[in-house]
Amino acid sequence: MLGLTILIVFLIFLVAVIFFFGFTSVFGAPWLPTSTSTVHKMLAMADIQPGDILYDLGSGDGRIIIMAAREFHATSVGIEINPFWAVWTRVKVALLKLRGKVNVVWGNFFDQDLSDANLITLYLLQDTNSKLMPKLGKELKPGTRVISHEFTFDGWNPCKVDYEANIYMYRIAESNDVPKRTT
Ligand SMILES: C[S@@+](CC[C@H](N)C(=O)[O-])C[C@H]1O[C@@H](n2cnc3c(N)ncnc32)[C@H](O)[C@@H]1O
Repeated sequence: MLGLTILIVFLIFLVAVIFFFGFTSVFGAPWLPTSTSTVHKMLAMADIQPGDILYDLGSGDGRIIIMAAREFHATSVGIEINPFWAVWTRVKVALLKLRGKVNVVWGNFFDQDLSDANLITLYLLQDTNSKLMPKLGKELKPGTRVISHEFTFDGWNPCKVDYEANIYMYRIAESNDVPKRTT
């Protein structure tokens, strides 16, 4: 009886781990949160101004979009494919009374229009960043900042880098889908 209980608990644990960490790899990346201190560094690097609209591609538990709104006064949008995290974030947003400042879209960021954004944050995978490059180059306005945690956009020149925290910032250039070095 004890053996069966342990087996059931183990199976539930396994399914939960696959659900939370694994299945979204197929779409772009598994769930792994950026530390709060790194989120702060990413947002500080962005030099957020009033009116800025931030999109976090794969927003997980919502930590980036919530900090952007609460501490940096940005309007923010999270796009998250895992329904658990999308609902989790919506509940947090409601409890923190951030509706109107923070929006969460349950969906695939490859299918969403990003043209509203003037700041993009992401923590995905190297390969996913590469797949996103044409979309970002096509949809984003010139001057839009793209800030990636951990992974680079190969072929684009970052305009700011924090090597200690592994943060890379790029700026979309005028009429060109390849951001140029600006500093
Ligand atoms: C490494 S986590 C980063 C979470 C959050 N941005 C952070 O930095 O803490 C990547 C997130 O992207 C989500 N994701 C992966 N592929 C996606 C896709 N195609 N569309 C939307 N979300 C996606 C995953 O479910 C996961 O929550």
